[in-house]
Amino acid sequence: MDPNTLKQRVGQAALDYIQPDSILGVGTGSTVNKLIEALGQAAIPLRGAVSSSEATSALLRKIGVAVLAAEEVDGLDVYIDGADEIDASGCMIKGGGAALTREKIVADLARQFVCIADISKQVEVLGSFPLPVEVIPMAAAQLARRFAAMGAQARLRRQADGQPLRTDNGQHILDVTGLHIDEPLRLELEISAWPGVVTVGIFARNKASVCLLGGPDGVATLH
Ligand code: 5RP
Repeated sequence: MDPNTLKQRVGQAALDYIQPDSILGVGTGSTVNKLIEALGQAAIPLRGAVSSSEATSALLRKIGVAVLAAEEVDGLDVYIDGADEIDASGCMIKGGGAALTREKIVADLARQFVCIADISKQVEVLGSFPLPVEVIPMAAAQLARRFAAMGAQARLRRQADGQPLRTDNGQHILDVTGLHIDEPLRLELEISAWPGVVTVGIFARNKASVCLLGGPDGVATLH
């Protein structure tokens, strides 16, 4: 089945988790874009949203949702976002859209993380999708050597014109292949402690509380 249709379905299903007049945390990516479309059509009144990227902020403003700074809120009930991979325990790889740092910050504000994904994102063990790591540029080469010492390969993410990609925070991304992430929390904590790492795209501390997984038979709710 067309992944676009599956993304539409989970975007629509996620509306059930949005309380009228609340402040919503909103992630980034093509699945979240479907949620924003559905939100615009359903016209659920919101006090505002805390967004995880400039791209999401622009779409939210387009449908008339006020974008609030993370510093303006004490906490959020719900954060809704996609994933590049999700395992059975709700741990995820995120950052394919380069928004991982703000995604983790907004997820950390929320009591509930609702992951919306098509079934292709479900895996037994994380690590087939290259792990995004946002890094301070001057540390990139040293961090690549650290990954090599673990038997993995880190590659600097580039834009279409060949220049290193800059995140919304002005930093670089390393995409790391060759990892078999069978202890996501342990690896998240280890990599997070390396000098120059801004954010590692393992979401184990901030794992999904619930996952709406779109497949050919409909949307399954996994807890
Ligand atoms: C962006 C992300 C996205 O949630 C992830 O890449 C999934 O994106 P999509 O919904 O387009 O498949 O982490 O940084």
